Amino acid sequence: MIAAYQAQCQRRVDAALDSLFTPEQAELTRLYQAMRYSVFNGGKRVRPLLVYAACEALGGAAQRADAAACAVELIHAYSLVHDDLPAMDDDDLRRGQPTTHKAFDEASAILAGDGLQSLAFEVLADEQRNPHGAELRLAMIRCLTHAAGPAGMVGGQAIDLGSVGLRLDQPALETMHRHKTGALIEASVQLGALASGQADQERLKSLHAYARAVGLAFQVQDDILDVESDTATLGKTQGKDQANDKPTYPALLGLGAAKDYAVELRDQALHALRAFDQAAEPLRELARYVVERRS
Ligand code: IPE
Ligand code: IPE
Ligand code: MG
Ligand code: MG
Ligand code: MG
Repeated sequence: MIAAYQAQCQRRVDAALDSLFTPEQAELTRLYQAMRYSVFNGGKRVRPLLVYAACEALGGAAQRADAAACAVELIHAYSLVHDDLPAMDDDDLRRGQPTTHKAFDEASAILAGDGLQSLAFEVLADEQRNPHGAELRLAMIRCLTHAAGPAGMVGGQAIDLGSVGLRLDQPALETMHRHKTGALIEASVQLGALASGQADQERLKSLHAYARAVGLAFQVQDDILDVESDTATLGKTQGKDQANDKPTYPALLGLGAAKDYAVELRDQALHALRAFDQAAEPLRELARYVVERRS
């Protein structure tokens, strides 16, 4: 199920993303090329999938969520371009291809990331692309700015870079992961719920619990794959966390206990959805996928 659902959502979000990268002037061709390269190089599109799946779990049609799906992927792509820069993780390979600063140059990568970030909010604000009332569009913008900014992803990246060579305890590691990766995943689910136009407090609470568990599980699994996968499967250089002396779950708990923890988080996510019907099946499948994935 997940493969077919993934392909269908990918087609939707890729069509929406594709329409964003047309330079207005010839001078901007290289910038737009760098942005396009950073978005269309084989990402799994997990965050857009979560947006669509959350919207559908509440009975909303997928087209209500296209702009939100697009916006979270733009923020995610920007975060990866900057994460790979020499000043951050210094990675040469992403999704099996040279990272943006390798394929272009550092300045182009910084600007491409900046451009992708701005586009994300432009898409949410735009009534044509995000055909909801002004109040709902504002709620979406508020949700994504909070998750992407210093209280969310950017804050997590700051904690990550400040933790190189340190031995964080489990609560501190959890805080770092919840910020750098969990926040955007939580926002994806929340945006899907907002886009559905049908969220009640009770179900929002359940979706929030689901997203918190999946968000943390996603980064725990990312840490696990960095240890036990290989560069060809991952599409990024295996073993970089250890080489960069990053605190990770396998480093703190050991590989076996980290895997047990990922499974426990998946079960927490599934438990949070117990009151939902069949419409939440894609969300359940995604929770399973997050800890079973190999890349
Ligand atoms: C990688 O995210 C970075 C993390 C937050 C762990 P993904 O594994 O979703 O990367 P792509 O988009 O599929 O390449
Ligand atoms: C990245 O975490 C989180 C982001 C906000 C980009 P990682 O540094 O572990 O991601 P990868 O392993 O490079 O994809
Ligand atoms: Mg990093
Ligand atoms: Mg990295
Ligand atoms: Mg990683």
